Amino acid sequence: MKLAVISDIHGNAAAFREVLKDAEKAGISNIYCLGDSIGYGPEPDEAIRMVRERSILSIQGNHELAVNQPGYLDWFNPIARISLEKTITMLSGQSLDYIAALPFFLTGNNCRFVHGFPPDSPTTYLFEADPEQVDAAMTKAEEPICFVGHTHELMIVSHDGREVSRRPLKRETIMLDTGCRYIINVGSVGQPRDGTNHAKYVIFDDQALELEVRFVEYNVTETIDKIYAAGLPEQHAWRLF
Ligand SMILES: [Fe+2]
Repeated sequence: MKLAVISDIHGNAAAFREVLKDAEKAGISNIYCLGDSIGYGPEPDEAIRMVRERSILSIQGNHELAVNQPGYLDWFNPIARISLEKTITMLSGQSLDYIAALPFFLTGNNCRFVHGFPPDSPTTYLFEADPEQVDAAMTKAEEPICFVGHTHELMIVSHDGREVSRRPLKRETIMLDTGCRYIINVGSVGQPRDGTNHAKYVIFDDQALELEVRFVEYNVTETIDKIYAAGLPEQHAWRLF
């Protein structure tokens, strides 16, 4: 079965809409979302509504965690915190209830889905885990493949049973090896930090073990205009270019 894995929509409904169209064109209806659907972007409530209405399986990112447990607001840098505090006022009661019920991880299709780092951390960045931590997490994992987000940068970490190697993912299709274990960072739909302004996500075929990295164009200017209109921090607007 083919599945799409998306992450870090960050209230960017224009990018999310184009990603959903792209996945639909590829015939994918099974979508997992790795959290941070809100924060930074101008349409957090719309992003949550779209995730909910499409029955997309989702988990908590660090932004959802801070909505559910406001003590985590202290974890954010000052501008991200301003954005998140404003975002909370933009969410409907229905969206807040939905966010409160999100789990920290999911498993399915012989994969694990977590926002930051396995087995279930929404706050640990893949790049900050040292080689021993990565080795331990991958050796212990019940599922051979773990999808993560959080850094907003595409990356593949592989473990062949002896050593760990990592490299950035490009716009490419690769075959995974049945003898290896993987942590795959799917990048960001709505707030990429990898030098290109396309929305990113991946399509994974769990039988053929084929991983396809998708770059999707969307109307960046529309989202930037809406960030300014909503009175959100402008850093999160110009960063989209
Ligand atoms: Fe994020």
